[in-house]
Amino acid sequence: MFITFEGIEGCGKTTQVNKLKEYFESQGKDVLVTLEPGGSRLGKTLRKILLSMESQDLTKEAELFLYLADRAQHVEQVIRPALARGQIVISDRYADSTIVYQGYGRGLDPQTLHSFNEIATKDLWPDLTILLDLPVEIGLKRAVTRNIQKKLTKDEGRFEAESIKFHNRVREGYLTWAALNKNRFVIVDATGEIDEIFTQILNKVTSFEEKRVEGVSNQI
Ligand code: TYD
Repeated sequence: MFITFEGIEGCGKTTQVNKLKEYFESQGKDVLVTLEPGGSRLGKTLRKILLSMESQDLTKEAELFLYLADRAQHVEQVIRPALARGQIVISDRYADSTIVYQGYGRGLDPQTLHSFNEIATKDLWPDLTILLDLPVEIGLKRAVTRNIQKKLTKDEGRFEAESIKFHNRVREGYLTWAALNKNRFVIVDATGEIDEIFTQILNKVTSFEEKRVEGVSNQI
């Protein structure tokens, strides 16, 4: 099973990814947690370039192809092998981030980006995508505080430095894209406490698993 988490800066993805991993492991399941950008050896180098404040001169096309290169390598070297081993893969961001950030955010055509993603991933799409939704003002405040605490502002602050307008386009873009892909997206309100948010996520994951089991038994 392949699950991805998506959302704006500071939506709390990383915390929830780890909680879901612990939940699956408590059920005896084998889980691989990974992330984009930076899930492969090449990706770690690309991540530095992509998130650094020094990369503010990147053109949107150059940025796009770096994300796609990161993804192609990640899918081939990390995600597909893990799925083939029977692991549950949870990725902190994946192909939808490109459609939303480079598409709705930067103004590139989402359908073209969808085709590029098909090439980069050889058409590997998540079974379930959890979108953590919250207002931009709350998310950015959390993300900037985290960067200051972890001294990451210079190395990883390029997106946090974008305008509020950009982040609002990203938030709206996620909601639009989720509505167009209802078959695999679930939207979770990420404004509350960590445990409340996780309860919502768990409800969505369990009802997804139940549907999958029903789907399989209907096929027998
Ligand atoms: P990350 O540190 O993972 O941010 P967060 O903690 O908010 O998830 O940084 C990833 C940044 O890269 C984030 O601002 C979104 C951006 N991004 C894209 O613009 N396109 C993409 O395809 C991906 C994967 C990420």
